Amino acid sequence: MGVMRLATGVTATTLSGVCTSTPPPRNLSGVCTSTPRPRNLSGVSSTPRNLSGVCTSTPPRPRPRNLSSLRCRAEVGSPVRGTSILVVGGTGTLGRQIVRRGLDEGYDVRCLVRPRPAPADFLRDWGATVVNADLTKPESIPATLVGIHTIIDCATGRPEEPINTVDWQGKVALIQCAKAMGIQKYVFYSIHNCDKHPEVPLMEIKYCTEKFLRDSGINHFVIRLCGFMQGLIGQYAVPILEEKSVWGTDAPTRIAYMDTQDIARLTFIALRNENIINGKVLTFAGPRAWTTQEVITLCERLAGQDANVTTVPVSILRLTRQLTRFFEWTNDVADRLAFSEVLTSDTVFSVPMAETYNLLGVDSKDIVTLEKYLQDYFTNILKKLKDLKAQSKQTDIYF
Ligand SMILES: NC(=O)c1ccc[n+]([C@@H]2O[C@H](COP(=O)([O-])OP(=O)(O)OC[C@H]3O[C@@H](n4cnc5c(N)ncnc54)[C@H](OP(=O)(O)O)[C@@H]3O)[C@@H](O)[C@H]2O)c1
Repeated sequence: MGVMRLATGVTATTLSGVCTSTPPPRNLSGVCTSTPRPRNLSGVSSTPRNLSGVCTSTPPRPRPRNLSSLRCRAEVGSPVRGTSILVVGGTGTLGRQIVRRGLDEGYDVRCLVRPRPAPADFLRDWGATVVNADLTKPESIPATLVGIHTIIDCATGRPEEPINTVDWQGKVALIQCAKAMGIQKYVFYSIHNCDKHPEVPLMEIKYCTEKFLRDSGINHFVIRLCGFMQGLIGQYAVPILEEKSVWGTDAPTRIAYMDTQDIARLTFIALRNENIINGKVLTFAGPRAWTTQEVITLCERLAGQDANVTTVPVSILRLTRQLTRFFEWTNDVADRLAFSEVLTSDTVFSVPMAETYNLLGVDSKDIVTLEKYLQDYFTNILKKLKDLKAQSKQTDIYF
């Protein structure tokens, strides 16, 4: 049996259905290619242990009855409509655009959201159905999949959460449930070049999840992404307008940011072309790759004011990562900082898109550029600020 290179607390032996009760060392080396087809992904013989994605040393028990009956219903009962989709991560940056687009295109959209005070009201207002579940609680997943044809998985752990729990164990549980319940299509969002950076835990997990999904035998496709334009608003645009510090690095890395609305549009085009897309790994990149400094300069020009830039040398990021590795309780921080190693590698997060546009029948002119995206943002926000100022002048009261 091959050993999967995972820094995730779950080994290849877990994937193959043979569990150990002790977590493996945080192994960052090795190759994630030679694991045999996981026994537990046959769907029919999965055990509660497999569904949870968490290892125990207890012997296999019969499959829970409720799953087998659900599967029967999916196969012999009323057929599941091809338009019924489950969006996982619908409250997120990309997920909400997937929900919006799906509804606009006439899909029945159900969203799996964590029980929170009221984070998903806007999804209901748009017309989606919301069901509560949590990927880290595998027993909450099966009920959300009843009557679902396609899962669009946009979920990822929030920055303050451990990567392993949601992005690996949670996804293993979701894919195993999907297989057991006869889900007919699974769309998974991954990260560009995840196969080339085993030293970065999140990229490692994405790569292994791609493989796990492929081995599951579920019809699927993977979309690897580079970066989102929406992320630049909080990172640069707002702090510049508020005259606060923006954090830059001296790294030469370039990222081809893409508008999440374009990602959503292209995802649904891909869904409609399942015969040519099935099993493929596509990469979506924006029209041009930008360094951090170039993004800041563009924001400065559009905002009409200078940024207060605090530059963090990549060497400091790397040192911080090494220090945080010393302590168990800072390991999650270290996992996030692992991206600093990618930043030092002079990487370009971009790919030529001509072939993908051709495959999907998309015109490159319809893809939003970063200049246009930020220009629209600054035009709108500066107009709103101007209106607010005018209003506040009209209502100023002097004593
Ligand atoms: N952002 C980027 O630049 C970028 C780049 C490359 C690839 N990607 C990939 O693109 C996808 C979407 O990213 P994003 O930036 O849109 O993510 P995001 O804004 O951080 O949203 C994450 C979503 O996952 C949900 N989630 C987290 N833990 C969960 C759990 N235990 N159970 C159920 N749902 C859970 C969150 O729900 P809550 O609202 O409850 O937290 C939220 O809806 C991810 O797969 C990500 O890895 C992103």
